Amino acid sequence: MIVVTTPTGQIGRQVLDHLLDAPDGTAGIRVIARDPARLSPRVREHVEVVPGSHADPAVLKEACAGADRLFWLVPPTPSADSVEGHFRDFTEPLREVIGRQGVERVVGVSTLGRGVAKNAGQISASLAMDEAIAATGVHYRALCPPFLMENLLGQAESIRNAGVFFLAAEEDRVLRTCATRDIAATAARLLLDGSWTGQDDVPLVGPDDLSPEGMARIVSEVLDRPVHVQRTSSADYRATALRFGASEGWAQGLSDMVEALNDQGFYGAVEPSTLESAPTRFRQWCEDVLRPAVLA
Ligand SMILES: NC(=O)c1ccc[n+]([C@@H]2O[C@H](COP(=O)([O-])OP(=O)(O)OC[C@H]3O[C@@H](n4cnc5c(N)ncnc54)[C@H](OP(=O)(O)O)[C@@H]3O)[C@@H](O)[C@H]2O)c1
Repeated sequence: MIVVTTPTGQIGRQVLDHLLDAPDGTAGIRVIARDPARLSPRVREHVEVVPGSHADPAVLKEACAGADRLFWLVPPTPSADSVEGHFRDFTEPLREVIGRQGVERVVGVSTLGRGVAKNAGQISASLAMDEAIAATGVHYRALCPPFLMENLLGQAESIRNAGVFFLAAEEDRVLRTCATRDIAATAARLLLDGSWTGQDDVPLVGPDDLSPEGMARIVSEVLDRPVHVQRTSSADYRATALRFGASEGWAQGLSDMVEALNDQGFYGAVEPSTLESAPTRFRQWCEDVLRPAVLA
């Protein structure tokens, strides 16, 4: 039995599709969903659904009964008071379930930055989550992407209406990227493979070595219209998050994350591409995902 968290999210939804597409995929999948009505009819027909949040110990316990494999993702939650507290609130129930029930393998979404990132807000909290999970002794793979290409989707309107997107990264420095489709494909492959053991990171670094300006050039070419990138400071980024309803703690985490990314460079040029696990080029992603979103 495989349990999938965040089955309506960008990554979880695609993980589930891969699992359902697998030859014996419709056997033994259970999802945890706060609102089961948001699941597709295909999913509702073929998987068991445990309603609720995977931060709720009783829900997680029920979902993991008899399960040996788990896809784990802590959802980004701007309303959370504290970044560390948010990750802890999800990870503690998981540690209990691993200790008491038969979950043998966990595939979790984490981030690049291990051993380098310091005071890096959401990134540090994610890396601490890995350590807490690993300390249980469960077989664990931490999927470690850099900047998600899908981050640009939230700016589709600005790209469409003003020909600009905003990034807090330096315009001319390489920012490594990854498409969520590659995270999902890797997660599904690991969930379907019962042979791996131990604990390890799985870096997921796309083939491009583009700076934000290089990304803007490709977006312009794909959309066939001029698109620029404008750098925002960490203070602006924080203020924007607050304006959109983030808590003080979450907004501060984002600001710390951005400063750490710029100062410590762990999403940058030094990270080698991992073509096998993250083959999607930024241009391909723009054609397949960004262009339809901008033109919608
Ligand atoms: N952005 C980046 O550049 C970056 C880089 C590295 C790593 N990451 C990691 O990548 C992951 C992003 O995942 P994603 O894009 O799939 O996220 P997403 O699309 O926001 O999906 C998260 C899902 O979680 C569910 N959810 C929200 N709050 C919840 C709660 N309190 N309890 C239970 N479920 C809840 C939501 O579904 P419902 O509303 O239907 O419940 C939502 O569909 C994060 O873990 C992030 O740390 C991001």
